[in-house]
Amino acid sequence: MQMYDLIDKKKKKGNLTREEIDFIIKGYTDGTIPDYQMSAFLMAVCLNGMNQKETADLTIAMANSGDRMDLSKITGVKVDKHSTGGVGDKTSLVLSPMVASLGIPVAKMSGRGLGHTGGTIDKLESFPGFSTSLTTDQFIANVNKIKMAIVGQTANLAPADKKIYALRDVTATVDNISLIASSIMSKKLASGSDVIVLDVKTGSGAFMKSYEDSLALAKEMVQIGTIAGRKTYAVITDMNQPLGNMVGNNLEVMEAIHTLKGEGPADLLEVSLTLASYMLLGAGRAASIEEAKELLKETISSKKALEKLAEFIEGQGGNSEAVYNTDLLEKAKIVEEVYAPGDGYVTYIHTDEVGMTSLLLGGGRETKDSIIDLSVGIKIHKKLGDPVLKGEALATLYANDQNKLNRAKARLLGAYVIGKEQPEEKPYVYAVVT
Ligand code: URA
Repeated sequence: MQMYDLIDKKKKKGNLTREEIDFIIKGYTDGTIPDYQMSAFLMAVCLNGMNQKETADLTIAMANSGDRMDLSKITGVKVDKHSTGGVGDKTSLVLSPMVASLGIPVAKMSGRGLGHTGGTIDKLESFPGFSTSLTTDQFIANVNKIKMAIVGQTANLAPADKKIYALRDVTATVDNISLIASSIMSKKLASGSDVIVLDVKTGSGAFMKSYEDSLALAKEMVQIGTIAGRKTYAVITDMNQPLGNMVGNNLEVMEAIHTLKGEGPADLLEVSLTLASYMLLGAGRAASIEEAKELLKETISSKKALEKLAEFIEGQGGNSEAVYNTDLLEKAKIVEEVYAPGDGYVTYIHTDEVGMTSLLLGGGRETKDSIIDLSVGIKIHKKLGDPVLKGEALATLYANDQNKLNRAKARLLGAYVIGKEQPEEKPYVYAVVT
């Protein structure tokens, strides 16, 4: 079999067999297929798609490309949550300590930023000393003791996805249902949680911009999870504007902490509570979403979730002082505002462009080897439907480099559409697929 022929087959809209998909995944993982051939293949998939069988075969091939984590030594029903990627999406930092503080083991594997979206692993590095690469034994010990651990993808867990993810990030090959579904589900299948809650983002800041595509992605992933014997829920949530008001690693950590103190924005709180409620439902800890939400809200008012966050940070070698004093999180040196060019309402936000603004400031990766600047980012002042006056601040940018800031300002301004009609309010949560 030749990789050249398989690229050509997908370019001509052919369907690949399981053996052909196994050949590609094995070859790319062991290095016999080079990045340039894999890039061409991924682009052909983005342009011509894969059917359900190809997607399922790809998922299994990637899940089998390395070790599978055995979490049987963790007591209780283990829950995990994964987002398809958004802008300002810090729900993992909010909901994991809430759920863990109720005694439910959160065994979570997270990713780094991808394309214009941020990643939990990058955000957690805001805490000095925090390690996202625990051994399996440490991971299991922490979940048993603290009820919560979050790790990055270990070197040998779905290594095919790890390599492909990094390549997709820099080759504009992220936004494809089969590639996203197989990427997420291969990791979830290899990492062994009993309950999987998927946050499928929809809208201008999601990889799936239309509701129909988001629903198709949700159904695809739930089907794969269910066939593999995992209780899988997909919650479709809004991504037509950044979630909350902060975008950028340290800024998002700060907002997550404020939310756990009961001072967070309504959209972030509601999406976090909904996702966490399905984790509770799946774990058998609540009989209804309403009951679950009440239990979860109590973890905020009692400060139990906040204390759990600090315990979790310390448990993975980090300094948790910032949990109680967010001023300790490093801030960028240059702070400038972006002003509205005219009067009206915020009628549309190109949310992916807001994510790209953060990336341009240094908060995301432009190449596979880029080092992230944790202190840069954006504070959003005006969200969808807000009235604005000419000259009012739409957002504040935090930067460490004046040239990057100048480019970022123009990009952020281009992300906002100011019109005369106030748009209809969008729901925070659209649907749940089970
Ligand atoms: N998250 C992942 O893990 N993979 C994707 O492809 C998108 C979001």
